[in-house]
Amino acid sequence: MANHPTSGRLSHEKVETNSFLLIVLVLVVVAFGGLVEIVPLFFQKSTTQPLENMKPPTALQVAGRDIYLREGCYNCHSQMVRPFRAETLRYGPYSVAGESVWDHPFQWGSKRTGPDLARVGGRYSDEWHYQHLYNPRDVVPESNMPAYPWLVKNTVNENTISAHMTALRRVGVPFTDEAIAGAPEAVKGKTEMEAVIAYLQGLGLARSGQLSSVQSAAAAQPAPAAAPAAIAAPQADASAAAPAAAASATDEAAVKVENGVVQFFFATGKKDVAQGGTEALADVIAGVKAGKKAVITGYTDATGNAAANEALAKDRAFAVRDLLLSAGLTEDQVTLQKPADNNAGAGDQARRVDVALQ
Ligand code: HEC
Repeated sequence: MANHPTSGRLSHEKVETNSFLLIVLVLVVVAFGGLVEIVPLFFQKSTTQPLENMKPPTALQVAGRDIYLREGCYNCHSQMVRPFRAETLRYGPYSVAGESVWDHPFQWGSKRTGPDLARVGGRYSDEWHYQHLYNPRDVVPESNMPAYPWLVKNTVNENTISAHMTALRRVGVPFTDEAIAGAPEAVKGKTEMEAVIAYLQGLGLARSGQLSSVQSAAAAQPAPAAAPAAIAAPQADASAAAPAAAASATDEAAVKVENGVVQFFFATGKKDVAQGGTEALADVIAGVKAGKKAVITGYTDATGNAAANEALAKDRAFAVRDLLLSAGLTEDQVTLQKPADNNAGAGDQARRVDVALQ
């Protein structure tokens, strides 16, 4: 019994006594384990889709990023807040993969001679950055960061920026034709200092904006606007400047009743139900109590990221359903439904959830 026939077959003994064979087989096993972990990441939305409120960088920010790479700032600065309390307290919300899908190459890094810069956008004024890059010791006496005084003298090369952005678009950064065509004009005569500051001031806004709900919809706006036309104007804390830019008449949550259908409109990127929703639903609720069913239909926006839009449309439909449930209806009295053509284009019609009786 103890003697297994080994001749001609791959026995365990053969593997254990032949180190070359063992190495090859170990590599096969480890490689397989690695593939199982890594390959799904190429197909997961959370690692391949940009965050919902991300805007492509401005031409000046693209130029600034190039200078950041050229000067080797990444040798001392990572751009990845790790998901630990000490990190999030110091820097802000931890980094997610979606923030970096437009970064070619990404700037995560792990070497931190200086602080992480993933959330530095809006933390200091443009003037502070100017002084700091010109000579770090002027604002942080103990700093050992090198000075970059030449950034003030050099101007950005406007002849190459369009080609550069075209190449970036080819690998997935959603620049519009206008943005690319207008790029030379946008960076013409700007100093490298202005470009680097524009880049720094845009870092992390899409995610630090999620700190407060008031900010989140507006946070996307100041990112491109942060381009410092005038270095002198000290930029206010982005969080203070943001909410004012947000409110526009057409972009607010609202509720309307039309032919017995209650229409909920949502603000861009939001799932907060408008005030007065329960009142508007009074007839629907009465109808359900009389034996009918409430049917909720959610529409998705065609602009922007399809997966994020789907998720948002779903959240909005659920928010409306919660309203009905909190008014005393039960789950089986409420049906969630996708319209045959749920893509209602852009604009407020697409940011909408309908409730009808059936
Ligand atoms: C030799 C390492 C080194 C290099 C290279 C370097 N830095 Fe720094 N940086 C530091 C150190 C150390 C600090 C912290 C002290 C200070 O604020 O000056 C710092 C601080 C900063 C800060 C302030 C961050 C904060 O949250 O307070 C910014 C912004 C910054 N660096 C940008 C840059 C840029 C842009 C470049 C490239 C042009 C660069 N750094 C290159 C070491 C470096």
